[in-house]
Amino acid sequence: MDVIHSVAELRTRLADERQVALVPTMGNLHDGHIELIQLAKPRAACLVASIFVNRLQFGPGEDFNRYPRTLAADCERLAQAGCNVVFAPDEQQVYPEPQEFTVDPSDIQHVLEGAFRPGHFRGVATVVLKLFNMVQPQIAIFGKKDYQQYLVLREMVKQLALPIEIIPAETVRAPDGLALSSRNSYLSARERIESIALFHHLDGIRRALMEGRRDFSVLESEAVASLNARGWETDYVAVRRQSDLREPDVHSRALVVLGAARLGKTRLIDNMEVDLS
Ligand code: PAF
Repeated sequence: MDVIHSVAELRTRLADERQVALVPTMGNLHDGHIELIQLAKPRAACLVASIFVNRLQFGPGEDFNRYPRTLAADCERLAQAGCNVVFAPDEQQVYPEPQEFTVDPSDIQHVLEGAFRPGHFRGVATVVLKLFNMVQPQIAIFGKKDYQQYLVLREMVKQLALPIEIIPAETVRAPDGLALSSRNSYLSARERIESIALFHHLDGIRRALMEGRRDFSVLESEAVASLNARGWETDYVAVRRQSDLREPDVHSRALVVLGAARLGKTRLIDNMEVDLS
């Protein structure tokens, strides 16, 4: 496995590759990332994982500085998983000058995560377009744990006619249900036990929908009140359409329940698809 830090070196390494799959990451890899790698492997002759903590997608006061950086351990895991190339650029390679051209996603960037993290999806879309231009993959894999990110990037590829197939990967969970995330490492032992409450509340809504309830806003506010009563600070719990994250009506069939809430200093997100057809 080659570990490459510069765009020039990357271009040379990939010059003769015809079928490249890219798994973009911010490092601190867990089993969820390895799942993305496994999904990519049979689809491409050359598997590239990028590791770059993207300052542009973090808001003021967010965890850019303390985001865990574990390059050596990440490379070990990627080598074991059969990755061919790790692209780990530094800030100078990705942002050699202030980034004045950016990608502005559609209205979807302002709802849910976007409403609480203004500019986040502009930062994500901009860096992913840059990574696409640097790596020039035929395929890219994104996890559904970041459901809104996946939809934003799927739309970006479609609307900007990028010749890249986007493949979504299912969320990987710990045995108790907690969605794997690099941010889980911020949780204290007590918070780790409590952290599954977010999953349980979303799953409770999923079951209520399966049983026929369609009073979406009641389900949402009950979950928010219940989480807050347990000591969470909930940003949102929302039932939305899978296709565009707009509010569903009683006839909508492909739904997703999404939630974001802070437990102590850690902000967790999760979601669950619900198919009613
Ligand atoms: O999902 C992530 O880890 C990041 O948002 C991504 C897609 C690598 C862009 O920085």
